[in-house]
Amino acid sequence: MTHSVWRGTAANDRASRRPRLSGRVEADVVIIGGGITGVTCAALLGLAGRRVVLLEARTLGFGTTGHSTGNLYEVLDAGLAGVEKKWGKDVVSRVAASRREAVGLVERFAAEIGETTAFRRCPLVQYSEDDWSQIEEEYETLRAAGVAVRFGECEELPGATGRALVIDGQAQFHPFNYVLGLAEWAAAHGVQIYEDSAAVEIAAGDALVRTASGSVKAKAIVVATHTPKGIYGLHGQMRTCRGYAAAYEFPSLTLPHGIFWQRGTVTRSFRKLEMEGRRYLITVGSPDKTGLHDPEKSLAAVESLFVRKVRAADERWAWSAQAYHSPDLLPYIGHSALHDVYIATGFGADGLTYGTLAAQILCDTIVGKDNRWADLYHAGRFAPLKSAKQTLAEQTAVLKGLIGDRLAVPDYTEASSIPPGSGAIVKTQGRNVALYRDPAGGLHAVSAACTHLGCIVHWNALEKSWDCPCHGSRFGTDGSVIEGPALATLEPVDLARSGDAEIG
Ligand SMILES: Cc1cc2nc3c(=O)[nH]c(=O)nc-3n(C[C@H](O)[C@H](O)[C@H](O)COP(=O)(O)OP(=O)(O)OC[C@H]3O[C@@H](n4cnc5c(N)ncnc54)[C@H](O)[C@@H]3O)c2cc1C
Ligand code: FES
Repeated sequence: MTHSVWRGTAANDRASRRPRLSGRVEADVVIIGGGITGVTCAALLGLAGRRVVLLEARTLGFGTTGHSTGNLYEVLDAGLAGVEKKWGKDVVSRVAASRREAVGLVERFAAEIGETTAFRRCPLVQYSEDDWSQIEEEYETLRAAGVAVRFGECEELPGATGRALVIDGQAQFHPFNYVLGLAEWAAAHGVQIYEDSAAVEIAAGDALVRTASGSVKAKAIVVATHTPKGIYGLHGQMRTCRGYAAAYEFPSLTLPHGIFWQRGTVTRSFRKLEMEGRRYLITVGSPDKTGLHDPEKSLAAVESLFVRKVRAADERWAWSAQAYHSPDLLPYIGHSALHDVYIATGFGADGLTYGTLAAQILCDTIVGKDNRWADLYHAGRFAPLKSAKQTLAEQTAVLKGLIGDRLAVPDYTEASSIPPGSGAIVKTQGRNVALYRDPAGGLHAVSAACTHLGCIVHWNALEKSWDCPCHGSRFGTDGSVIEGPALATLEPVDLARSGDAEIG
């Protein structure tokens, strides 16, 4: 498993500090998920005087928030030019204005939390060595949308040719310290926070959430789990990807503070992190579809972007994280089709800002206050023409996961060839089994059928996990849910009982 620079440099990294939910608790709102969306929503609702319970499956910041790049900006990673083509100029202006406001909210909370958040304003710089037309198109879109964009210089970055698009007044922070600090602040304002408390059942209608050791009865449920848990139509439309990142300690790093995005044939993002007098260079590459790529190769591609040899004593981290991309390029935020259930998803690689914005929209909606951005991101919107291309591609992938993978998995006899520390899908007695051989040689067998909608999971050699290519559910080698829409663990398979003890 990988480890992010954020967890490695955390002000207070710990196994678990908040208690596990036990027994029945009552609240006005129960929030599921302790990433930036859930924790911000909890803080805002607590401030608004609501009784709030937050349930985190593992530890706060465990999800993508603690494995991101920590950049905050009003534009979008994939560019606002694409949003203009789908939605027009007015929507682009509103997206930028709403995101600008959300960055301001992070700044205010960061000031409350203190310097561990490492929040600072900085420019966002975009450049390209081989596709300047993409930068020019984005410039025109941003200028028309009222974003304060300009052309400037950039020479010291890899692949830079001199000229760059610059947006001043964007920001960076330490996302993991921010979420922990904000949770602390929320708890001081009355929010009850539980870790190691995965929601295993969400009873919409009764507004009841159950964990393995307790339950919360509330008036509203906020599902802030990055992609909603359970079965939603929008799972079939969103593209689920994994992004790869690496960070190296770089004592002589001269890179200024800023967000640096290279565009064109090579797509990557750079930033510097300074913590307690040490300097780190962080880089992130382009994402790949969950379950359908080689994670070790993807990480190697990111690591190869470092042109410098690293000293053996320098600290280094490498990690991966998940992103959910909506088909019409806007996130889904608000009331779901289910009674009293609110969702926030489809943030792409822009969810530190979108998650904060979502928290404000959901808080306002729940307390009955108008929010001027709520209609823009409304979760129940119907935009088939804007979504058709991606939706078709995703549904084709699901069909392959449901039917193609079932037919294509290797045969039972190949189980003996699984080396220690590795996993593979094997077929035994007509059943697809996800088989992992631990470093000591022990075999761990679980059903390979994803508990969300039944697609066959794929082995992720980098994270030692079983990843579903259909909607991004991921499971540990023991079958436990790591992330994605699935609520239930992969069913254990007793090899001895099914007469397969000779496997391996
Ligand atoms: C490599 C990479 C870099 C990125 N960098 C940036 C960036 O620089 N700027 C930016 O704006 N965006 C960035 N993003 C996107 C951004 O990090 C995410 O969109 C954002 O962190 C999502 O926050 P969240 O709170 O909605 O979800 P998460 O942070 O994933 O939190 C969800 C939480 O829910 C918990 N959970 C899941 N299931 C349950 C359950 N059953 N019960 C209870 N809890 C549960 C999880 O454990 C998790 O802690 C990046 C994404 C990637 C992949
Ligand atoms: S079938 Fe939907 S995530 Fe696996």
